[in-house]
Amino acid sequence: MKTAITELFGIEHPIIRGGMHFVGFAELASAVSNAGGLGIITGLTQKTPELLAKEIARCRDMTDKPFGVNLTFLPTFSAPPYPEYIAAIVEGGIKAVETAGRSPEQYMPALKAAGIRVIHKCTSVRHSLKAQQIGCDAVSVDGFECGGHPGEDDIPNMILLPRAADELKIPFVASGGMADARSLVASLAMGASGMNMGTRFIATKEAPVHDNVKHALVKATELDTRLIMRALRNTERVLKNSAVDRLLEIEHERGRSLKIEDIHDQVAGVYPKVMIDGDMDAGAWSCGMVAGLIQDIPTVKELIDRIMADAERIIRGRLVGLLDGTEIKSTREVA
Ligand SMILES: Cc1cc2nc3c(=O)[nH]c(=O)nc-3n(C[C@H](O)[C@H](O)[C@H](O)COP(=O)(O)O)c2cc1C
Repeated sequence: MKTAITELFGIEHPIIRGGMHFVGFAELASAVSNAGGLGIITGLTQKTPELLAKEIARCRDMTDKPFGVNLTFLPTFSAPPYPEYIAAIVEGGIKAVETAGRSPEQYMPALKAAGIRVIHKCTSVRHSLKAQQIGCDAVSVDGFECGGHPGEDDIPNMILLPRAADELKIPFVASGGMADARSLVASLAMGASGMNMGTRFIATKEAPVHDNVKHALVKATELDTRLIMRALRNTERVLKNSAVDRLLEIEHERGRSLKIEDIHDQVAGVYPKVMIDGDMDAGAWSCGMVAGLIQDIPTVKELIDRIMADAERIIRGRLVGLLDGTEIKSTREVA
């Protein structure tokens, strides 16, 4: 399948695996790129720019296909050394960067000078337009369903994607709630040029996380995520567990006076405990509603091949069939 996104990033399938803290290591990034998508190393999971340079080199040893790096601009006073991270990306020969969080505006000249294609993750049309204005090549439009930070507007993808299509001139991928061929075909129908998946890729054989995490995703339903940190305007969608229950109690008690220190125990240093040790109650970790659509733990290649084959069947068999009266299958049978 050829779309503006496959052409922009030089990939075979219009599927991106967005940055994920303590998940986006070289193993998963290379697996996605080898399967024809765009794999992404999560920049800030590497504690220093030197370690990021090593991770890029490690990924380069595992694939000769294009892969990218995620740079998340955090709302923090002690910012990581972003210019040094960008130097590691440029020197590592990376040609695709997924930015997220705050606007990447001040870093655009350095990224563009190195010939890097920038895709910025946005949870609103106005931020997408700003990304377009500052020279981003594409955006990843992240709906309310998404795992991680859905922003504060709460607009689901059925509305957000067509709104983005109406306003944007640059290509965009649909992000948040994407799991299978149905997600891809629906996104294409709404004007996207591909899709970005986070949570779904954690439940794959190559994801370098503890098996407990993968099994928790298979077990979870679409009812099992919670929104935390609303009062801090730093909303995050996470998987419900005992630590999240406690966190929500604290949020309820503190109300609008909530401070980040109040929930320090439930949010600080959680990711290695969950992803590496498999301690599923260690604290709050990002997870999308799409958990309800995850029923298995395939290899990345099996997942991507299945999505692309089913997408073709949905388009040719169901959609074209609906038009010419030969439609025979329900989406459930083909997806
Ligand atoms: C465990 C986890 C960690 C994540 N960490 C980051 C991150 O560090 N930076 C970032 O930009 N997005 C992060 N995300 C968001 C994903 O890149 C992606 O936008 C999101 O997962 C899409 O929604 P989905 O989970 O419904 O597919 C994370 C998501 C998950 C599930």
